[in-house]
Amino acid sequence: MGYFITFEGIEGSGKTTQIRKAAGFLAAERIPCLLTEEPGGTGLGRILRKILLDKTALRIGDRAELLLFAADRAQHVEETILPALREGKVVLCDRFSDATTAYQGFGRGLDRDAVRWLNAFAAGSLRPDRTYLFDISPDEGLERVRMRSAENGTNPPEKDRFEGEAVVFHRKIREGYLALAREEPDRFRVFRGSDPVDSLHREVVRDLLELLRR
Ligand SMILES: Nc1ncnc2c1ncn2[C@@H]1O[C@H](COP(=O)(O)OP(=O)(O)O)[C@@H](O)[C@H]1O
Ligand SMILES: [Mg+2]
Repeated sequence: MGYFITFEGIEGSGKTTQIRKAAGFLAAERIPCLLTEEPGGTGLGRILRKILLDKTALRIGDRAELLLFAADRAQHVEETILPALREGKVVLCDRFSDATTAYQGFGRGLDRDAVRWLNAFAAGSLRPDRTYLFDISPDEGLERVRMRSAENGTNPPEKDRFEGEAVVFHRKIREGYLALAREEPDRFRVFRGSDPVDSLHREVVRDLLELLRR
């Protein structure tokens, strides 16, 4: 079996930036790796991603939202992640079960036991070997998202369903992630998301190499 590594954090914390650099590093080292994301990562997942992140006024209740993320995850684990791990690859995943606990549990306030059970059901027995949490204040993260949208040429910036939520929602998520990291200090590595891109990348690489050497 390979290694399953997840990248977590609020919007704009730098997950996608860091996961791409990590994948680039592994490729340069000729370490077989798969870069994937949630929601998304499968044919079904890409349709669910459109539904879940759509900017239109499609109504999705909190429980329906939770179930759609769980459906995405179940398909992703079975179709994409487990086969890659069986081939011995390092699987780098942009968001996983912790995001559901943080967003739908801590953020939306859904019952924690229900979220825990559904996460376990969707992921089977699969748990990340390592989780990198990029911790940043919602003010800074959301400001970066605004800059990112401006760079991509959408003006006024278009926000997805989560980016459009109030700052208090993102505060709850940040606190949720930090609580999860405190519960499982062996699995989590918490980084300061406001640090420079390159120094964060060096810290990720240092930890990755240590993990892979075991
Ligand atoms: N450490 C950093 N310092 C400054 N800007 C960053 C840093 N990491 C990412 N960014 C920028 O912030 C924006 C959001 O980063 P991104 O990686 O897309 O975050 P996420 O995937 O967590 O939403 C992007 O425009 C990115 O270039
Ligand atoms: Mg991203």
